Amino acid sequence: MRLCPGGPLLVRGADVVRDEAGVAHAVTRPVVAVCACGKTGRPPWCDGTHKVVRRG
Ligand code: FES
Repeated sequence: MRLCPGGPLLVRGADVVRDEAGVAHAVTRPVVAVCACGKTGRPPWCDGTHKVVRRG
């Protein structure tokens, strides 16, 4: 895993990602970007919204 500063958590080689509620989301790609900002429109995946929301 790798946290991109101000962006998503990149997860490599996972079969499943569980969200905060414990719901399992199947992973179908070698690397997926999981939202770490909490503003995505399609959780748990990063949709790029972190680029337009302000932090702080
Ligand atoms: S980290 Fe990209 S939308 Fe949250």
